[in-house]
Amino acid sequence: MCKLTSRVLDLLILICFIIIISCKSPTTHDESPRERISINDGWKFMKYASSEDADDLFYDVRPEVVNANDSKDADTPATEAEKLEASKKALKPYILPTANPFIKDKSKHHKRPEGHPGSDFPFVQATFDDSSWENVNLPHDWAIKGPFQEGSNAEVGGGMGRLPSNGIAWYRRKIEVTEADKNKSIYLDMDGAMSYTIVWLNGKLVGGWPYGYNSFRLDLTPYINFEGKNQLAIRLDNPNHSARWYPGGGIYRNVWLTKTNKVHVSHWGTTVITSNVSKESADIHFDVTVENNSDSDSDIETITKIYELKNNDNGTQVATIEKTNSKISAGKNRTIKGSVTIENPKLWGPPPTQTPNLYKAITSIVSEGILIDEYETIFGIKDVKLDPNQGILVNGELIKIQGVNEHHDFGAMGAAFNVRAAERKLEILKDMGVNAIRMAHNPPAPELLELTDKMGFLVIDEVFDSWERKKTPHDFHLIFPDWHEADIRAMVRRDKNHPSIIMWSYGNEVGEQYTDEEGAAIGKRLSDIVKEEDPTRPTTSAMNWAKSDMPFSNAMDVISFNYQGEGIRQDPIFDNITDRIKTIPQYEPYHKKFPNKVILSSETASAASSRGVYLFPVSDLMSSPIRDGMGGDSKIKQVSAYELYAVDFGSSADKVFASLDKHPYSAGEFVWTGFDYLGEPTPYYDARSSYNGIIDLAGFPKDRFYLYQSRWRPDLPMVHILPHWNWPERIGKITPVHVFTSGDEVELFLNGKSLGKKKKGAYEYRLRWDDVMYQPGELKAIAYKNGKVWADKIVKTTEEASKLMAKADRTTIDGDGKDLSFITIEVKDKNGLIVPTANNSIEFEIEGPGEILATDNGDASDLTAFVSKKRNAFNGLALVVVRSKKDVKGNIKVTAKSNGLEMAIVNIISK
Ligand code: GAL
Repeated sequence: MCKLTSRVLDLLILICFIIIISCKSPTTHDESPRERISINDGWKFMKYASSEDADDLFYDVRPEVVNANDSKDADTPATEAEKLEASKKALKPYILPTANPFIKDKSKHHKRPEGHPGSDFPFVQATFDDSSWENVNLPHDWAIKGPFQEGSNAEVGGGMGRLPSNGIAWYRRKIEVTEADKNKSIYLDMDGAMSYTIVWLNGKLVGGWPYGYNSFRLDLTPYINFEGKNQLAIRLDNPNHSARWYPGGGIYRNVWLTKTNKVHVSHWGTTVITSNVSKESADIHFDVTVENNSDSDSDIETITKIYELKNNDNGTQVATIEKTNSKISAGKNRTIKGSVTIENPKLWGPPPTQTPNLYKAITSIVSEGILIDEYETIFGIKDVKLDPNQGILVNGELIKIQGVNEHHDFGAMGAAFNVRAAERKLEILKDMGVNAIRMAHNPPAPELLELTDKMGFLVIDEVFDSWERKKTPHDFHLIFPDWHEADIRAMVRRDKNHPSIIMWSYGNEVGEQYTDEEGAAIGKRLSDIVKEEDPTRPTTSAMNWAKSDMPFSNAMDVISFNYQGEGIRQDPIFDNITDRIKTIPQYEPYHKKFPNKVILSSETASAASSRGVYLFPVSDLMSSPIRDGMGGDSKIKQVSAYELYAVDFGSSADKVFASLDKHPYSAGEFVWTGFDYLGEPTPYYDARSSYNGIIDLAGFPKDRFYLYQSRWRPDLPMVHILPHWNWPERIGKITPVHVFTSGDEVELFLNGKSLGKKKKGAYEYRLRWDDVMYQPGELKAIAYKNGKVWADKIVKTTEEASKLMAKADRTTIDGDGKDLSFITIEVKDKNGLIVPTANNSIEFEIEGPGEILATDNGDASDLTAFVSKKRNAFNGLALVVVRSKKDVKGNIKVTAKSNGLEMAIVNIISK
């Protein structure tokens, strides 16, 4: 009896267990059959000493560089490509098929030749002994540690940042695949590698992707050894003279191993389009493309649930897209369409007036009752309207673009992507009042767009800086004929669901502007490709040679001006110059010719300055070109921070503001640039980094920061005085004082005596006291708004430097081997004032679970390697970037010492 009861009990338990198992929803989250594994750690790396020593597993031949002319004006027109004979040995025919999924016309798909070139090369063999190679973790920029190459005969010149980004290198790593993966598809997902990537797995050539800025996927499945280790070998080949800025070198973004079932959501396989958007409701159209890599047809059920994301939690479910049953034939893919209406949607929009609300869609694919794939798509709901008489309306509100252009580098940290470095940049820009970023001139790391989504920046995603015609001998024009379609489609497919993106740019200042109908036809084709991928967003292509009657402007939905709004080289200094571009202001002719198109200034200013450097005499113009004695000093390679000076084709910030205000239909501006960047050090090509930033390379605001802030954050009470007031050599000399304020009137005092009250007039953005006679002491500005005191500021003559002070932007960081603390070192006098001329040499030490990743000071002419632990302050400031060590917790102590100064210590907790 007892035995029987226990049997019955056992049976009951078993039945219950079966019921529980079969009742469990197939879409439970923790069961996702898709794995995305970071394979950033544990690589071996070797770069050839010179390209002459390298193997011959190259992508294609390149033209010989006869005249690189690295320091030519940025607006020098591009020239025709050289004709080259294709070499028989080139691996290009084996790489081109990687582009096939992005080539619409199937008859143009590339057929891969037989065989696996390179399969007998030692580096691709699992047995090759790479123990003497360098250990690296990704993202990795092989060039940033330097050293800087000095002089006019440097192999890599100022234009590309004087760092050894060029060269050929290999990365090797083993990847883990288990028996359980046997029936899976295994992909290598590379977010970006600089450049000409070619990948071998277990000695077999898999494929590659030449353009260094795009993300791409390679299918490793056919070459995987499911029983044992798998050897990846990746060859990169980064040409010199390939860019007008610092490209970086290496696998400088994240790399992933993605494992899916044979039937799965394809690469970048979901598309979310929102329509009829209002506060009351929004229609969500959700397409998901499912691919079947197996050899039998598959019946699947697709269901997508939509969650509202709040404060980084997993969100509350707000809608479901109705279940769809479909059959996916073997070896084919299929797009399944669905839609749903969300009531009272939380719209995505830019702060401060709107909130960047996000949603997450989770798509589940079920076959025979089993969850076979689960795929996440983050998106936002917004309505964008273009009004040619006003600009861009987001959710019905006119948002004037207060934008900046940004290159991809992180200054002293190079091109290697780091989320915290990107977030810090965006935080500093936000503080200035920036609401939009133009990704100049290439698709960014995907994580940067995740940040712009979360922080609410509007974005122009841009694909190329050149098409068929070349700007530098080895730029993208070499691969444009074979790759432009794939590169454009790859950008749009990857990025289309990001709510921050408002526009696609298919080119920047390309040479095809000058080739009439021929160039216009290429532009039209590129714009059409974008529209096939995303019919919902406008296209544009930035022009620095805009003529309203030229056919080039016709294809773009939005007219993008680089410097055309203010005109180019209109100053009398250029009267006798005939061999350079000159352009009269273009807003009016364009507005007349294209009354239905929005006009946007995609690049403005290109003003230049060095933080804290003030040169005399000071121009009495609103905007001046730079020459020795006119805002520039070629001996010290610095440009005056009176913020009146611009490159020859540019204009000061003030002149741009006036031009925008006189043409209120303009959608706004993207300043060239937010941050200084590596390379392109116009006007001093002996230097390492640019002078155009509003913020220096180390992230310290120049005076211009406050000029933009005064305009872009009108509600923030602020007033800023320049220059500093340490001029022992100028006693009794005229030393102009300029003041920026978000108020409308300022009274300036020198040593308690009023120098008068001044009010901003029409098209005036700074208040200037140009005849102040210097005497040491105290400058004080009291700003007023509508007659009431609004803000005040004091600048004092300091004593000698006596101590260092250290301030970390974050004193607690994650011990994940990635998180950063940015430490500002200030050289101060005994009263705690920053000594604005201090250039003391500082040495840094670190203890505990962190490392000094880089040091900098924002001086474009400083050729001390960024990895150096010794660096001079530049005008009172220096920067140390500390990175946590992986999986070690504890206190990180950073010490800064300088001869004769009290040292500074800062403690950071790594947790
Ligand atoms: C523009 C160009 C930018 C940069 C800038 C420098 O013409 O589009 O990439 O070169 O000039 O002032």
